[in-house]
Amino acid sequence: MTQTITVIRGDGIGPEIMDATLHVLDVLKAGLTYEEADAGMVALEKHGELLPQATLDSIRKNRVALKSPLTTPVGEGFSSINVALRRHFDLYANVRPAKSFPNTKSRFPSGVDLITVRENTEGAYIGEGQSLSEDGETALLTQKVTRKGSERIVRYAFDLARKTGRKKVTVVHKANILKTTSGLFLKVAREVAAQYPEIECNEMIVDNTCMQLVMRPEQFDIIVTTNLFGDIISDLCAGLVGGLGLAPGANIGTEAAIFEAVHGSAPDIAGKGVANPCALLLGAAQMLDHIGQPEKAERLRAAIIATLEAKDSLTPDLGGTGTTMSFAKAIASRV
Ligand code: NAI
Ligand code: MG
Repeated sequence: MTQTITVIRGDGIGPEIMDATLHVLDVLKAGLTYEEADAGMVALEKHGELLPQATLDSIRKNRVALKSPLTTPVGEGFSSINVALRRHFDLYANVRPAKSFPNTKSRFPSGVDLITVRENTEGAYIGEGQSLSEDGETALLTQKVTRKGSERIVRYAFDLARKTGRKKVTVVHKANILKTTSGLFLKVAREVAAQYPEIECNEMIVDNTCMQLVMRPEQFDIIVTTNLFGDIISDLCAGLVGGLGLAPGANIGTEAAIFEAVHGSAPDIAGKGVANPCALLLGAAQMLDHIGQPEKAERLRAAIIATLEAKDSLTPDLGGTGTTMSFAKAIASRV
């Protein structure tokens, strides 16, 4: 049986890392059929818009997309396509694993294995209620936290713990100061946590969390938090385990899910064939978990780890002299 997924090759290094990723998925015999759709600068050139309706239709039909980075042109009138996709499909859960890998420049080559579950639709990023006074001296921002939004993200985190055999969920907040927004999030989180008695739940204030993550990251298992805190914390976690070349992310909703690398289109190295494909490959592994192929996902992750361990064809960001494709082929030979 094959499953059709939407494939967005994206901009900059996007096509290069996508070719590499699809090669590995083919060798893995993941049983996938690819439906290509355009977004980003490529789409703007071909179709006159950054996010064509045909692309939205493809994602809606297939419910699963693998997406390379998209360049958002700098300037008036262009808002982030990634944010637009998250809004359009109500992709409320941003799931970013951070795991220690061998032979990276990380300070933690072992011991870190955590997942940040970030609320992806509300909080400080609603894009409403921002104002600047006429004299430019005072800026205001409205944050929105809802019971529904909090409940579904915390439930997602606990269900993920259950499904993956993880033991602990840390609720990260700032309810001591942000009494209403963070306060509501924490209150709802406590209610949801009570329904998962077998999973340990602890609460941590966000500033302390940052310190704890840097000092003793092994203590974390799953972190669940609101949009702004999750944005910052998940980048911190990517830094703990070796940086952008190894950090994947999933955007998950009830109607669709989009899997990607955390990094951008890297215009500085685009077209040179030296981009590290691992972040998108790890995003593909998350996708395989999501579509019910956890065994293939695990084989893919194990092949990446074995290739890093062997220092076989590593790309320049990891200190090697390999190319995007030679690295991918080295990984493919181990799946
Ligand atoms: P970036 O992540 O593209 O690049 C930052 C640095 O990391 C660069 O030096 C780059 O060469 C390096 N890098 C990134 N990915 C790499 C990889 N796979 N292998 C080796 N080195 C890698 O961030 P930047 O330059 O701020 O953004 C460039 C463009 O990407 C912008 O237009 C931005 O809007 C877009 N972007 C898109 C994202 C997405 O589609 N999810 C996420 C972040 C940025
Ligand atoms: Mg971010």
